Amino acid sequence: MALYSEKVMDHFRNPRNIGVIEDADGIGEVGNAKCGDIMKIYLKIENDIIADVKFETFGCGSAIASSSMATELIKGKPVAEALKLTNKAVVEALDGLPDYKMHCSVLAEEAIRSALDDYYQKNPEKKPEQ
Ligand code: FES
Repeated sequence: MALYSEKVMDHFRNPRNIGVIEDADGIGEVGNAKCGDIMKIYLKIENDIIADVKFETFGCGSAIASSSMATELIKGKPVAEALKLTNKAVVEALDGLPDYKMHCSVLAEEAIRSALDDYYQKNPEKKPEQ
């Protein structure tokens, strides 16, 4: 079996939503201390919907594929759904990642969470009741 699924290779070679949103409502940047990879997510939020999302990833192919897939999974979705995105959902959508590459998908989950935290810090009135 090939190490990487066709979906991983596709999202690595043709990443979706790569770039920057200049007037983003939320920005999240996370890194993995072990491999040194960094992922940055930009969110544009309108009426509680992820109107646009872009990413910049300085990292391995799995991190790029995970960022690309994660942005596709939350684009156009309600913020509440984006908050629930797990790395497991990203891996499933990619048809799997090798075990030692799981942390790359965790980075995508964390980057989106961090961008949403930033959004709520700037817009505390939008924060859902805990
Ligand atoms: Fe660290 Fe992929 S090797 S994010």
